[in-house]
Amino acid sequence: MKTDTEIRIRSATADDLPFMISLAHESSAAAQWSKSTYQQLLQSENPRITLVAEEGDVLCGFVVAQVTGTDCELENIVVNESSQRRGFGLKLMQALITAVRKRGAQRIFLEVRESNTAACGLYAKSGFVVVGNRRSYYHDPTENAVLYALQLRELP
Ligand SMILES: CC(C)(COP(=O)(O)OP(=O)(O)OC[C@H]1O[C@@H](n2cnc3c(N)ncnc32)[C@H](O)[C@@H]1OP(=O)(O)O)[C@@H](O)C(=O)NCCC(=O)NCCS
Repeated sequence: MKTDTEIRIRSATADDLPFMISLAHESSAAAQWSKSTYQQLLQSENPRITLVAEEGDVLCGFVVAQVTGTDCELENIVVNESSQRRGFGLKLMQALITAVRKRGAQRIFLEVRESNTAACGLYAKSGFVVVGNRRSYYHDPTENAVLYALQLRELP
């Protein structure tokens, strides 16, 4: 049986982009971006924090976030359906928080469909709190967004 110790989180490379694109396309709850948007993730002057989770040499998930000044927006997080509920999402969030601290941001925020219980559960378990909502923010289908934020405290 495989154990947690085999889960590794690392920065994404260009070689990971095809996996990330197909994984996001398989998940209707993930943010859907064009291929060129994925290619820009690692190229822009202010590159996103883009982390992948792997078990052995099998990629299982990714997270993308953008730091602007002292704020960071979590833009996408997806774990392969067959790997869900095994701690990959939580490990991606923990690694993201570490990377965001290193970039000097003080707050991570995000929005999510209110019906997305898996993501809401992950955010709550990662320490995020609900800070608002946006009525009918999403389309196809129309749905309210819940806004979450995590205030990062300075490490002792
Ligand atoms: C949200 C998502 C990334 C969670 O990934 P994951 O690897 O399954 O999450 P973890 O195993 O680390 O779970 C961490 C916690 O999240 C919560 N959680 C995860 N899946 C859940 C579910 N289906 N129902 C309720 N809570 C859930 C639980 O609190 C869980 O802790 P527990 O297992 O000790 O109870 C995954 O479900 C996913 O990829 N969903 C589709 C894409 C998506 O919705 N992305 C977010 C919007 S962009």
